[in-house]
Amino acid sequence: MKSITEEQWIDWVDALAANDYVVIDDFLDDDTYRLLRNFFLNKLGHDEFDPAGIGALSEHHLDTSRRGDHVYWLDSEVDQNLAAIFELIHELIAKLNRYCFLGIADFESHLAYYPKGTFYEKHLDQFKARSNRLISMIIYLNEGWQPGDGGELKLYHNDEEKLVEPIAKRLILFKSDVLPHEVLTTNVGRYSLTGWMLKNPSDLGFLLG
Ligand code: OGA
Ligand code: NI
Repeated sequence: MKSITEEQWIDWVDALAANDYVVIDDFLDDDTYRLLRNFFLNKLGHDEFDPAGIGALSEHHLDTSRRGDHVYWLDSEVDQNLAAIFELIHELIAKLNRYCFLGIADFESHLAYYPKGTFYEKHLDQFKARSNRLISMIIYLNEGWQPGDGGELKLYHNDEEKLVEPIAKRLILFKSDVLPHEVLTTNVGRYSLTGWMLKNPSDLGFLLG
């Protein structure tokens, strides 16, 4: 795994604290990227993704007019092939706790597959029934992404709109409670890992819906 200097971590977490989001290119090195992408393709090939829902607990339901992705929830106990990824994410969490005093206590993540023609309408990553998400993170896995492929992440930041292209190895971090965002319609299959850093241990609310 590539080693990231302390200065580099500090620049990233400072940018996140100051601007509400930070985009980090080439966050994954080649080996880690390959591992994650192959894992993704394998789960997709074995039909292990489920249509994603909206809301938590009793409000959880499916609505493809609002969100069209399919997800595979990750579990570090089960998905041990991804140990290198979980290690990297834990390092990220440790830096956020050290330099931003965030008090992140847990983490939840899923792989997301947006079939061609799907999108996720404008939303905040917090549920009314469960508001413990502090930081959202997405790692994109779209090799050879080109303008016209669509599926950009659109951020609504203060009075500005910012488009983030979902290119391979890119990481975006943003504050879950303040940054409305949407996924524009994708014209090709769109791959990512999406995770949330939580302020309290996860109650796996999505499973109880
Ligand atoms: C989400 C989300 C954005 C993206 O899953 O909540 O907004 O770029 N994802 O995949
Ligand atoms: Ni979101």
